[in-house]
Amino acid sequence: RSFQTQVPTVTTTSADFAFAFDIDGVLMHDTTPTPTATEALTLLQTSSVPFILLTNGGGHTEEARVNHLSHHLKHNIHKSQLVQSHTPLSPLSADENLNTVLVVGGESDNCRKVAHGYGFKNVIVPADVLAAYPAVSPFTIDKNPPHAHPLPENVKVDAVMVFNDPRDWALDIQLLIDVVMSDKGRLGTKRRADDDSPHVPLYFSNPDLLWANKYHLPRLGQGGFREAFVGVFRAVRKATGSRVRLTYEIIGKPHEKTYKYAEDVLWKWRQAQGVTEGVRTVYMVGDNPASDIEGANRFKSDRGVEWVSVLVKTGVWREGDNTNGAKSVVENVLEAVKWAVEREK
Ligand code: G3P
Ligand code: MG
Repeated sequence: RSFQTQVPTVTTTSADFAFAFDIDGVLMHDTTPTPTATEALTLLQTSSVPFILLTNGGGHTEEARVNHLSHHLKHNIHKSQLVQSHTPLSPLSADENLNTVLVVGGESDNCRKVAHGYGFKNVIVPADVLAAYPAVSPFTIDKNPPHAHPLPENVKVDAVMVFNDPRDWALDIQLLIDVVMSDKGRLGTKRRADDDSPHVPLYFSNPDLLWANKYHLPRLGQGGFREAFVGVFRAVRKATGSRVRLTYEIIGKPHEKTYKYAEDVLWKWRQAQGVTEGVRTVYMVGDNPASDIEGANRFKSDRGVEWVSVLVKTGVWREGDNTNGAKSVVENVLEAVKWAVEREK
């Protein structure tokens, strides 16, 4: 059920400050809104204060995600207001060197759909390799996932992108190692042990070691998967005597590339609403000191925008934990909005 396609124009001059809301642990716990989320967004809507959503989550198209969020939060949120973990990777689809990308993570065929929506032409996912070569992952039970596509002959992977949390770590770690240890990305080949040339580019889209869902303790995120992959890779490299050096790029909060991309999204969102003036301050409301708070505190805006970190108690952070220099620590997202509006008076 899609809510709205046209961008609502702002009828009154909107404020010269804005919000960037984290999702998991701030607005949502899995598919349940946090108790004050809807009221917080209503408060902003009535005072025409713009906001974007900035999440290390993903695995769905921006449109599908905002339709889901609009339904649960009872607010019309537009896809142009959403930055997911993999959204800042979308410009790479213009890179002619990336003919075939291996996209990892998420449910079913969702991440392939996301990659195609970004403009990547040839996208393969681990299920395609598994269906073509069932023995590639001895411990994966479902050898014929329904979303598998036929694997091209002699496929050469030009980049690997982890878009969302992998569901089968054994299969996905195995394939990442196979690609890194291959001869120039040709699946099923093995580089010479003394070949120390750079391997296929590898992107992780979310550094979160831990995140908050409905369970009462934080859960392992994509950062946990990456640590597991690096540990297994090191053991395989040692055992095989390979000289390949492992390099990869990590984006997502707290990394600067994601905050820069998010500020550009905020600017474009306001322009789409017919507001040409920028904002002086962005309040980053998050639940994770290592990502949301760290990123906002560290980010140096090219536009001179002040990013102010506000930590809520409804997610990863618990009383007694390090607040990592959050400018304010409040109970929930509504209190975060009220604190910021008061500060702007
Ligand atoms: O996978 C989602 C998790 O890493 C955290 O998402 O919305 O709290 O940045 P979020
Ligand atoms: Mg969070």
